[in-house]
Amino acid sequence: MTYTAGAKADGATALGVLTGEIRAGDAIQKTGSGGIIPASKALAGADAFITDTGKEYRLKEALEPIRGEYDYIIIDTPPALGILTINALTACDSVIIPAQADIYSLQGIEQLAETMKPVKKYTNPDLTIEGILLTRYSPRSVLSREVAELAQQIAGKLGTKLFRATIREAVAVKEAQISQQSLYSYAPKLK
Ligand SMILES: Nc1ncnc2c1ncn2[C@@H]1O[C@H](COP(=O)(O)OP(=O)(O)OP(=O)(O)O)[C@@H](O)[C@H]1O
Ligand SMILES: [Mg+2]
Repeated sequence: MTYTAGAKADGATALGVLTGEIRAGDAIQKTGSGGIIPASKALAGADAFITDTGKEYRLKEALEPIRGEYDYIIIDTPPALGILTINALTACDSVIIPAQADIYSLQGIEQLAETMKPVKKYTNPDLTIEGILLTRYSPRSVLSREVAELAQQIAGKLGTKLFRATIREAVAVKEAQISQQSLYSYAPKLK
C-alpha cells in the first residue's frame, strides 16, 4: 500500500509511531488516496521492539490525537497474528475481514475470530465485525456459488454479514499496483 500510494518509507514510519518516537500527525504523508502513515520492512520485526507493559495500546494511544480529524482510519494488518494485529484490533472500532474467495482462505476467518476473543475480553470490549468481504472473486466460475455460500455460513456463525459487494479477480489490480495508482484512477470503468 505504501508503494502503491506513492508514499515514501525512508522517513517517519509506522514503526516509529508504534515505538513512540514519532507522533502520528508527523508521520502522515498526504497522497491522492488520503493521508497515509507508511510502513517499512522493519515493521515486520515489531514483536521484538514492542515488549513493554501496555504494548497492546501503542497504536490506540498514537492515533488518539488525530482520530477526530478523519472520517475513517483504515488499519491494514499483517497476515500473521502478533503484536501488530493485536494493536490494530485494540485501536479500532470494527473489523472488515477481506477473504480470498477460496475454501482455505475462508477457513482462516474462524481463526481470526478466535484471536478477537481475548482482545474483546481484555483490551477492546466494543470490538465488532463489520462483515466479510470476498476478494479475487470470479462470479462466473463454477465454484463461486459454493464459495459464497460457505462465506455466508461463516458470517452467520460469527454473528456478522457477508457483504454483497465483492472485489473481482482482475489483472487491472496488479497493473494499478505497478503503475502506483489507485484502482479508481487506473481503471475507472472496471465494475
Ligand atoms: N482482485 C484481484 N485481482 C487480481 N489479483 C489480485 C487481486 N487482489 C490481489 N491480487 C494480487 O494478490 C497480491 C496480494 O494482494 P494483497 O497484498 O492485497 O493481499 P494481502 O492479503 O494484503 O497480502 P499480505 O497478507 O501479504 O498483506 C497482489 O499483489 C495482487 O498481485
Ligand atoms: Mg496486506
